[in-house]
Amino acid sequence: MNIKQLEKDYKSFENKEVTIKGWARNHRTGKNISFLMINDGTSFLTVQAVYKDLENKEEINKLHIGAAVEVKGILKVLENSKQSFEIAATSINILADSSEDYPIQPKKHTREFLRENAHLRVRTNTFNAVFKIRSELSYALHKFFNENDFLYVHTPIITGADAEGAGEMFQVTTLELDDVKKKEDGEVDFSKDFFNQSVNLTVSGQLLAESYALAFSNVYTFGPTFRAENSNTTRHAAEFWMLEPEVAFAELEDIISLSKNMLISAIRHVLDKCPLELEFLNSLVDYDLVKRLEDLVNANFKEIDYKEAIDILNEAIEGGHKFENEVFFGVDLATEHERYLTDVKFNAPVYVKNYPKEIKAFYMRLNDDQKTVAATDLLVPGIGELIGGSQREERIDILTKLMEAHDLSPEEYDWYMQLRKFGGVKHSGFGIGFERLVMYVTGIENIRDVIPFPRTVRNCKY
Ligand code: 4AD
Ligand code: MG
Repeated sequence: MNIKQLEKDYKSFENKEVTIKGWARNHRTGKNISFLMINDGTSFLTVQAVYKDLENKEEINKLHIGAAVEVKGILKVLENSKQSFEIAATSINILADSSEDYPIQPKKHTREFLRENAHLRVRTNTFNAVFKIRSELSYALHKFFNENDFLYVHTPIITGADAEGAGEMFQVTTLELDDVKKKEDGEVDFSKDFFNQSVNLTVSGQLLAESYALAFSNVYTFGPTFRAENSNTTRHAAEFWMLEPEVAFAELEDIISLSKNMLISAIRHVLDKCPLELEFLNSLVDYDLVKRLEDLVNANFKEIDYKEAIDILNEAIEGGHKFENEVFFGVDLATEHERYLTDVKFNAPVYVKNYPKEIKAFYMRLNDDQKTVAATDLLVPGIGELIGGSQREERIDILTKLMEAHDLSPEEYDWYMQLRKFGGVKHSGFGIGFERLVMYVTGIENIRDVIPFPRTVRNCKY
């Protein structure tokens, strides 16, 4: 029996004997009556066990917060109380005591302090809620794609390709770092390395997902990705999860609607499955949370061209708004620009489309204007970029030119070029940063607090 089962069905357990096992969250001892709060993580609920005279009362009175206990007792349904039930304990068995220096005491802790104790912070309400929602979101995304006939493909984590052509990769090697052999031309001699070539951790599974889309039509990959970006922000992690659908025969507009349906479906699932968690986060972390999620489920999205975004920002400047970064056609939108669009102008998620080709990746399809590519970023209030996607350049000659313009050599992407040669129909896809989605759905402001054990610049504890 666990707390989730009691929560679901407490009325049928009324006045019956129940047993739960969990960890002590709080403990108040009194002369006549004492209270022990227990949480087992299966539910957001912490259950109150009330006890008076127990055989081992003295031992229990000394129990420390964080101890694991087994409580047996009679379930009492409560009226006019915040809790719907409690347990009148007939026995409390200490399974494993904790100690006085247990860091997670029943008081307010800062997020920084909890981050230092990531192995124990999961025993707090906030992290219980966040990781329950993270788990449900993951399930909901798989469910959505499965029900829409997508194949789940496991693209590799170790790869020789730079999928984004941006060079922000972690190298993987078995070479002895204090004795790296160089070739005559001064380059590292990878012939002695495990793979006989230079390899790295993947930044995105997209290019390989394209190969599967051109066989299975609808596919997605979902797994860890790695970026050695030196960005110490609240939205960047060195290791994060990305979900990337790739769809054959699809154009940009098709994957924009796919991404909307995906978000609506996943968020609806969480609204349905995690009401207690959302209510808690709404009351403590983000007062606007539930309303924001309900708006999104009602398909409250905006779509604008990059060009229009620039016009809007310029109008803002004319109206007296100050940006630190310049605004002109061709600029890579800075966070302050994105924030203006999502938080000030529209107060809704915004798809920005058709970016200048110079500021986007090499594989994006060149538009007829020859200046922009069929790319989109979904920007959301409070976070900025949640999704990046595009139609892929399927015309081999144009792809070759785009690669050259990005200083990449088509020879190194030989197999990728072959996909264009052999039935290389038009296709499109996007990537959603899973942690950013969890941030959006929980209201948590820092990516470090939605990853169990975060890896960021200069930090790889655990
Ligand atoms: O925009 P990005 O770089 O796009 C791609 O990697 C494409 N290959 C996706 C595709 O079309 N299949 O990354 C996609 C998303 C971003 O929108 C952002 O949400 C997230 O991944 N992301 C990060 N999340 C956390 N930490 C980082 N360092 C991130 N970098 C990107
Ligand atoms: Mg992007």
